[in-house]
Parts: sequence; C-alpha cells; structure tokens
Amino acid sequence: MKEKIAVLMGGRSLEREVSLRSGERVFTALTQLGYRALALDVTPELVDTLRREKPDAVYIALHGKFGEDGTVQEALDFLGIRYTGPGVIASALAWDKALSKRLFAQAGIPTPPWVTFTSDAFKEMGAASALDLVPGAVGGFPVCVKPSKQGSALGLTRVEDAAHLPDALLTALSYGDAALVEKWVDGTELAVSVVDGADGPEVFPPVEMVAKSGVFDYTAAYTAGATDYYCPARLPDDVTLEVERLARECHTLLGCRGVSRTDMVVDEAGRPLVLEVNTSPGMTETSLLPMAAAAAGTDFASLVGRMVRVALDRVE
Ligand SMILES: Nc1ncnc2c1ncn2[C@@H]1O[C@H](COP(=O)(O)OP(=O)(O)O)[C@@H](O)[C@H]1O
Ligand SMILES: [Mg+2]
Repeated sequence: MKEKIAVLMGGRSLEREVSLRSGERVFTALTQLGYRALALDVTPELVDTLRREKPDAVYIALHGKFGEDGTVQEALDFLGIRYTGPGVIASALAWDKALSKRLFAQAGIPTPPWVTFTSDAFKEMGAASALDLVPGAVGGFPVCVKPSKQGSALGLTRVEDAAHLPDALLTALSYGDAALVEKWVDGTELAVSVVDGADGPEVFPPVEMVAKSGVFDYTAAYTAGATDYYCPARLPDDVTLEVERLARECHTLLGCRGVSRTDMVVDEAGRPLVLEVNTSPGMTETSLLPMAAAAAGTDFASLVGRMVRVALDRVE
C-alpha cells in the first residue's frame, strides 16, 4: 500500500458545498491511485484526528477562508504534516486581492486599475469623503466592487455610477475588512492553471468562460448550462503565449507551490489583465483546473497524483 493521504474538505467557509464536491472526487482518485485515503471535514477535532492518524500528507480540498488563506497551512506546518498547494505566505498573499494586486503592479504584471477601502479607513479616518475621487483613480465607470478576501464572486457588484458606489462598498465590506473598487473590464474571461511537476511548473491551456449572466459567479460556475467553456481558449497565438507567461509569472511571484490558477480578462484591445490568483482551485466535475489538465492530456487521477507527489516530495 502507498502512503496515507488525508483529504481535508468541507469546513465552514461559504464555499463548503463546492469543497465537499471537490474533496469527494479527490478521495476517489486517491483510492484509485492506491493511496490510503482518509476524508476529513474541518471540525474542532481536526488537529486531534491528524495527530492520531499521522497522514503522510494532506490534500487540501478546502476553498475560501481558513482553507485558502494560510490558516490551515499554518496549522499543518506546526504539526509537521506536508500538504498540497502553496505554503502560508503564498496562500495569504493570493487570498488578499488588495496585497496581491500591489505585488502584480510592482512586478509589471497588468491588473485593472483599482483602489482599496478598509472599514477602518471609513470609520476612523472619514474615507467616505474621498469617494468622489474613485472614478478618476480607476478610469471611470463601470467599476467592480468586491471584497478583498473572498471567492466565487461573493459580495461582488458591478456599479454603473457614483450614486450606487456606497451601497456596493457596504455589501463588499460585510464580507471582510477591505473592499476593492476596480475598473470593470469587458472582454474574454480566462482561467490559467499552473501545476508543478518533475520539470518545474507546467502551464495548462487557458480555459475561456462565457457566463450567460456576464459575471462568472457561483451560479455561473455551478449551474448546468449557465456558462459556455472553451479549452483551449479562442485566442490569437500571441495572446495565448502572453496569458501563459503571465500565469507562470504570477505563480512564481507569489511563491506558489504545487498549484495555482490565475483568473484574467483579455480586454477588447487584446490586452490580458490579471484579476486574482487562486491557490486551492475547485476540483468538481465542472471545475476549471481539471478541464485545463484534461486538455493537456492529464486525466483527473493523474492530476491529483501529481499534486500529492509534489507535497510528499517537499523537503524542508
Ligand atoms: N474588474 C473586473 N472586470 C470585469 N469583470 C470582473 C472584474 N472583477 C471581477 N469580475 C468578474 O467577477 C468574477 C469574480 O471575480 P474575481 O476577481 O475572480 O474574484 P473571486 O473569484 O475571488 O470572487 C470574475 O470571474 C469576473 O467574471
Ligand atoms: Mg476568481
């Protein structure tokens, strides 16, 4: 028998249901691959269970807060248990759009213009009096208002004019302490996955998402027929090369290990802009990473096997 791998799934984040679906598929794949797989939900007994079971590695199938923000990674580091996906720093940076976008901008990686508001800046410093500066700072309306730390487009609003900005900010800030106001970019939506392997990071073909609603949100991602997918994306060759280069650069810049999935928009002039990096991409039947892997000839079980191999081989 091969190593014992615990699959962490569920948890209490807003993406619990998706995580359970990812986790169950990963569990099945691990069993097929001959690993001793163990499914674990995140409960107050988790640390105790991990100490007792002593898995050789953990597959993190959690999405969202606690699973993707460095929390579970910190706990596993402390317990001395290896895990799939990036470590604490890369997870925390990617989870925080306000910080990761600053890093992109600093590194010359194109990202839509934006400003960040924190609830503290509103409460303690009267930041509301600067809302009139927003259109000038981001290049006019429409804008996308979203929580800095969230996923599945939760708390996200497209805002057409200044009158609707305060409400959208309140919505976004109800999910966390910081919100982004970002230039809305019309164009082609892409997700570009990077998975480490024996020869370093491999970029899988870009997936293009055409959500019928216009926003690739929770409903668009998880309702049958709500989105059309194209993999590889319908892009000119030079743009494909550029988005692949950007995904690899984001992976390296944030210090990602094992896996990352960079969400981008290619604007109407053909210029790719990075929206965010995900460090625990969905693994459901309709998820983007498995779709991209399949287009590159890597089936689901091989993909899982590869991510687990990277985790097991990690030397600290
Ligand atoms: N600046 C933007 N311009 C156009 N669409 C956007 C913008 N920001 C987000 N979106 C839409 O909302 C979705 C979710 O946004 P994203 O930044 O990827 O956050 P998350 O997936 O973490 O919620 C995107 O896939 C896209 O459909
Ligand atoms: Mg996204």
